[in-house]
Amino acid sequence: MHSNGKKVSCATCHTSDPRNQGKTRANKLIEPMATIANPQRFTDAAKVEKWFGRNCKDVLERVCTAQEKGDYIQYLISVK
Ligand code: HEC
Repeated sequence: MHSNGKKVSCATCHTSDPRNQGKTRANKLIEPMATIANPQRFTDAAKVEKWFGRNCKDVLERVCTAQEKGDYIQYLISVK
C-alpha cells in the first residue's frame, strides 16, 4: 500500500502480462515491456535508468536496487 492510500504496482500501468500494451493513469498507451513483443526495450541505458528512477519512486517510494532492476530486466527478456 502506498502512503497516499492508493494501491499501485508496476502492473497498474504495465499490466500483469508484459506482452500486452499498458496504459498510464492519463490513459496514454504504453508499448509492451517484454522484448519479445517490443524489441526497443532496454536498448537505451539512459531511458531505462530514467524510468526505473521515476517508476520505482512512484510505486515503492524508494529507488530500486541494482538487484531488483536486474531481476526485472532478466524476467522481461525471458518472456517468450
Ligand atoms: C504510473 C504508470 C506506471 C507505473 C505504475 C510504472 N510504470 Fe514503468 N513506465 C511507465 C511509462 C509511461 C513509461 C515510458 C513509456 C515507455 O517506455 O513506453 C515506463 C517505462 C518503464 C521502463 C523503461 C523501459 C525501456 O524501454 O527502457 C522501465 C524499466 C519501467 N517502466 C519499469 C517499471 C517498474 C519496475 C515499475 C514498478 C516498480 C513500473 N515501471 C511502474 C509508466 C509506469
